[in-house]
Amino acid sequence: MPQLSGKPASYWVDSTSTSNFPSLVSATFDGVSVDVAIVGAGMAGITTAFLLKRAGKTVALLEAKEIGTGVSGHTTAKVTSLHQLIYANLIKDIGEQKAKLYAQSNQAAVEQVAALVQEEQIDCDFSRQSAYTFAETEENLSQVKDEVEAAVQLGLPASFVATASLPFPIAGAVQFTNQAQFHPRKYLAHLAKLIPGDGSYVFENTRVQQVEEGDPCQIISQQGVVHAKDVVITTNVPILDQGLFFAKSYPKRSYIIGTRITPEQAPDGMFIGTGEGYRSIRTTPYNGDLLLLIGGEGHKVGSRSDTEECYQNLEAYARDRFGVQSIDYHWSTQDMVSFDKIPYIGKLTPFNNHIYVATGFSLWGMSNSTMAGMLLSDLLTGNENPWAELYDSTRATPFVKPTSIKENMDVGIHWVGDRLKGLQDNSFDEVAAGEGKLLTIGGKKVGAYRDDAGELHAVSATCTHLGCIVNWNSAEKSWDCPCHGGRFSCEGEVLHGPPVKDLETYEV
Ligand SMILES: Cc1cc2nc3c(=O)[nH]c(=O)nc-3n(C[C@H](O)[C@H](O)[C@H](O)COP(=O)(O)OP(=O)(O)OC[C@H]3O[C@@H](n4cnc5c(N)ncnc54)[C@H](O)[C@@H]3O)c2cc1C
Ligand code: FES
Repeated sequence: MPQLSGKPASYWVDSTSTSNFPSLVSATFDGVSVDVAIVGAGMAGITTAFLLKRAGKTVALLEAKEIGTGVSGHTTAKVTSLHQLIYANLIKDIGEQKAKLYAQSNQAAVEQVAALVQEEQIDCDFSRQSAYTFAETEENLSQVKDEVEAAVQLGLPASFVATASLPFPIAGAVQFTNQAQFHPRKYLAHLAKLIPGDGSYVFENTRVQQVEEGDPCQIISQQGVVHAKDVVITTNVPILDQGLFFAKSYPKRSYIIGTRITPEQAPDGMFIGTGEGYRSIRTTPYNGDLLLLIGGEGHKVGSRSDTEECYQNLEAYARDRFGVQSIDYHWSTQDMVSFDKIPYIGKLTPFNNHIYVATGFSLWGMSNSTMAGMLLSDLLTGNENPWAELYDSTRATPFVKPTSIKENMDVGIHWVGDRLKGLQDNSFDEVAAGEGKLLTIGGKKVGAYRDDAGELHAVSATCTHLGCIVNWNSAEKSWDCPCHGGRFSCEGEVLHGPPVKDLETYEV
């Protein structure tokens, strides 16, 4: 098994202390009743809860683990309305008027983050930066030029540049000025601390299992029940299946490495490439120097087992392009990509009056989820919002797009194929140290992992969401579901939704 370089942790989580909010069970009062319960404390949930409280609502924010340690604690954290290449396609697909709403709402979200940092004096390494999408080949250059034209047409701060401060040649780039970057967990921890009090709460280590709509709604966890007039589900992928969001988007996993670099070696700005194998690049302050973050190697969750290779490819790129000597961190995470690249924000289904969702941020959730918080705050306080229709979560979904058919077929193929493939081995002896393997033991499908010390960890291989067979992820030592992106530890604990129940464990 190849040894990966650097600490296997997100720099954002590693460089902040634990937050220590109580769990619901340790609450010392008789039940919790609020105006709005928000399930999931990432960028979407914390922003929504904070803005709702500021608008005069009482809120309860319920988090399965620790606030800001999900996707938002593992992101690249560029806060920008430059979403690689999107505007030329949006104009083509949904027309100029709607594309303009997408542009304006995301640009407004960038300014909302900046305003909150200023108003609340949040110490989160916030800095204004230019964002760039660069082409390295003439072939990709025309897309970049189309994007510049579309972005200018929509009123965004865009221009074409032929060069950038990267240590390798480029063919050209679209530049958005006055965008931003920050330390996401410092930002989220500060906002979360402002929520409790005056009838509002933040609960950690409280995994919500079910939500029942009613008057009031009941938000049910193993730690107790919260009552609320309205509920917002911000669990990245909604834990409630009714809206079929797991089928209207697909989970994409992507990898990041962090490596110390001197300010002289560092590029100036935030960058993302184009074409196959694109890289995402930015720096952040790091003990008097800078930490260079390089991301990429994205793939659909559960579609790869040899995930060490993803990190190795990023490391080779860092050494080759930036001449770095050693890697300090490596981590990975995933996000839901909606088939039309537009997030779903609004009612869970047309039949729900009190349950709302925000999902499908398509790897641009720093601005998209801030925008979701702004929009949801308006919806729940009865204010008109011009973006509501564009992001309407109950809109007709473009299942008909060739890409979505392919993604859905991939799920279907896994559903059928997983039941037929590779479960023929039926002895734990087949599992070598450091290896994870699917087995059939006593007629049951089992995921078995033998750790480096030789100890076996065996769990049911059937995902507790909708019953797909999970797949081993060698770098993260996890069981990942190829159907809708659910992930479990080698001990069976839920790491990422939509499942809310752990995998059954087996005594070996
Ligand atoms: C590799 C990568 C890089 C990215 N880089 C950028 C970037 O540079 N700029 C950008 O704009 N976007 C970026 N994104 C996207 C962005 O990070 C995400 O869109 C955003 O963080 C999603 O926030 P969230 O609140 O939906 O999810 P999360 O942060 O995951 O929050 C959801 C929370 O819900 C909790 N939860 C789950 N189930 C339950 C339950 N049953 N009960 C209670 N709580 C529960 C989870 O523990 C979690 O804390 C990137 C994404 C990836 C994958
Ligand atoms: S995540 Fe849906 S079946 Fe596993």
